[in-house]
Amino acid sequence: MRGFDAAWLHLREPFDHAAREPASGALDLPGRLTRWRKRPPGEALAVIDLACGHGANLRALAPGLGGAQHWRLVDHDPVLLAAVPDALAQWARRREYRFMLTGDASDEQGIDIAGPDFHAKVVCHRLDLARDLASLDFGEMPLVTASALLDLVSVSWLQALIHQARAARAALLFGLTVDGRMAWSPTDPGDELVHGLFSQHQRRDKGFGPALGSQAAAVALQQMACADYKALQTCTDWVIDGALAPEMQRAMVEGMADAALEQDPAARDAVQCWKARRMAGIIGTRLRVGHVDIVATPA
Ligand SMILES: C[S@@+](CC[C@H](N)C(=O)[O-])C[C@H]1O[C@@H](n2cnc3c(N)ncnc32)[C@H](O)[C@@H]1O
Repeated sequence: MRGFDAAWLHLREPFDHAAREPASGALDLPGRLTRWRKRPPGEALAVIDLACGHGANLRALAPGLGGAQHWRLVDHDPVLLAAVPDALAQWARRREYRFMLTGDASDEQGIDIAGPDFHAKVVCHRLDLARDLASLDFGEMPLVTASALLDLVSVSWLQALIHQARAARAALLFGLTVDGRMAWSPTDPGDELVHGLFSQHQRRDKGFGPALGSQAAAVALQQMACADYKALQTCTDWVIDGALAPEMQRAMVEGMADAALEQDPAARDAVQCWKARRMAGIIGTRLRVGHVDIVATPA
């Protein structure tokens, strides 16, 4: 759950989609982008997806954005980037979209996907965003997006990103930022201890400096306001019913227990007992994990 391997990203993707789909009406991203920037007919929207993993953010957004789109998917992990074409091909097949690989060995390898209301050209770009964000060319007035990234980054990195985006007059969409809310039903006497340690662990450096963890959404909104962005947020919570999704709930319990133990090895007995009780009760347990999506356009 704390790693970013394709198996975990694959496991969480249906929960991400279920959380974001109802929220998309509240954010009205296509309407907001049209009001922000009227593009001549046929001109593609440039979209830069930071820390793209295996492309889940594109799968969540491209059909709803509609029209012509040019996506640049950026991540530092070559294994995840290599998994993008296959993940997009499978998605396209399920949705009956047209899918094509473009380019050749001498050219930039690309992907072309078309559905009834959208046409996306996609390229992948390997980059260490912690070190080399400034080298990423945003062009003019793109949509800069990321999902499940902001809790990993530091205040100063986020500030640099928002300044770079503002200079390019970019719109911003940050999806699925954890906000610290976590509600188990039924509750357990060990929840508070484990959540506390888990939240502290979320603040550890993930390569971008001291991580924002559950403060990320609040800090992002503050920084956007300072950079003269007009922002709107909406909740995109995961709801994990153990009877319907035991594998996901097990991954949450394991991930939280591992993080708590790493944070405070002295709490071993209490954390192991919490884990054992939670594992035994998976089927009758429901977990809500708070996330928010934020969209912002230059004022
Ligand atoms: C929680 S995953 C989210 C992936 C994807 N956006 C999604 O929603 O499925 C975080 C992503 O950040 C990427 N990442 C972490 N550190 C990075 C860095 N320094 N530069 C670029 N990407 C990074 C990981 O490889 C991983 O794909």
